[in-house]
Amino acid sequence: MNLGTPCSASATRLMMLGAGELGKEVLIAAQRLGVETIAVDRYADAPAMQVAHRAYVIDMTDPEAILALVKRERPHFVVPEIEAIATSALAEIENSGSATVVPSARAVQLTMDREGIRRLAAEQLGLPTSPYRFASSLQELEAAAVELGFPCVIKPVMSSSGKGQSVARSAAELALAWQEAQTAGRVGAQKVIVEGFVDFDFEITVLTVRSALGTVFCPPIGHRQEAGDYVESWQPQAMSAQALQDAQSMAQKVTDNLGGQGLYGVEFFVQGEAVIFSELSPRPHDTGLVTLASQRQNEFELHLRAILGLPVDPGFRRASASAVIRGKNLGWGPRYAGLETALAVPESDLRLFGKPTASKLRRLGVAVAAGESVEEARERAARAAAAITVSPA
Ligand SMILES: Nc1ncnc2c1ncn2[C@@H]1O[C@H](COP(=O)(O)OP(=O)(O)OP(=O)(O)O)[C@@H](O)[C@H]1O
Ligand SMILES: [Mg+2]
Repeated sequence: MNLGTPCSASATRLMMLGAGELGKEVLIAAQRLGVETIAVDRYADAPAMQVAHRAYVIDMTDPEAILALVKRERPHFVVPEIEAIATSALAEIENSGSATVVPSARAVQLTMDREGIRRLAAEQLGLPTSPYRFASSLQELEAAAVELGFPCVIKPVMSSSGKGQSVARSAAELALAWQEAQTAGRVGAQKVIVEGFVDFDFEITVLTVRSALGTVFCPPIGHRQEAGDYVESWQPQAMSAQALQDAQSMAQKVTDNLGGQGLYGVEFFVQGEAVIFSELSPRPHDTGLVTLASQRQNEFELHLRAILGLPVDPGFRRASASAVIRGKNLGWGPRYAGLETALAVPESDLRLFGKPTASKLRRLGVAVAAGESVEEARERAARAAAAITVSPA
């Protein structure tokens, strides 16, 4: 495709809905090709806004607010970065042909709700998943848990980063799990998915790039989660050739169904030789931050190239890892120390996201590192992340 000149009549405009750290890296990649960038979020000074040509603070769950902004900015590409977006507006934009919704309005709609993607993967495409039920009340949750057995995992159907998610080990814990899902869910009364607990050996993300020239896969990324939120990832995750092939063929099946051009993060549990589909993001994945160190084109560059219809090449370079830097309740404008120590770690690098406020467990940055082996890379990334201390302004 031809690209124009930013801030001129010929500009190619990309609007990012959600302006977090993942969107920031995509916009940096866009800036490098002279794409005009517009960052949108519900709060000011969000990470991606700091690298965009223009920024807007709107309520992204309000379809009218999104449509009004699209009318004003006339983007060529509308790229959702988070799940909490009025998907009816995306469908309208796509249907009117005014912009390309990435990867497609349907993909965004089906994945904003755990029910949509789970029913598609398990019931329509026949992929193996954890056993599951949906429940809209504590009574329904209790009935579902009895059917599935304990432990089971309870998640609001609309939530991300482990918010409102809990594991119940007995019937006595269900009331609290229900409560947890209700208070942490994104909107009002929450339906939950109840899943049988999968005692997996490890879990992986398969970054899957749908470009104009076909589908390519990045080597599998292993990761470790705490309370449903990612704290560490590495690439490649060692696994059998058969299990990898199974994961890739499932990733191909589900992303073919969702369509469009862009990068998907497809999550699986691996238990022995069994590969179990978990969920998927129709956009760069947080565990994929490791690709900042490991690949010739990181997941953000791959996403951008796929969006623009350009050739993609993950080009794996070297075993690498990422380790998250998290906040405490420190309020506005926290300070970061220890960068000298962190960056003295061999083959390391750092991203500080520039989030305006630090709150408990909020992801504020990430350290990445490469090494001779995954073990060495993990040790290095962890050491670099641990060297950073965050303090109040
Ligand atoms: N059925 C399950 N059995 C065992 N562990 C699970 C199960 N479901 C989720 N988990 C654990 O919780 C983590 C988060 O779950 P999931 O990916 O469904 O939620 P999420 O809120 O969408 O997370 P994120 O947005 O960070 O990807 C998983 O990566 C896994 O470690
Ligand atoms: Mg997940």
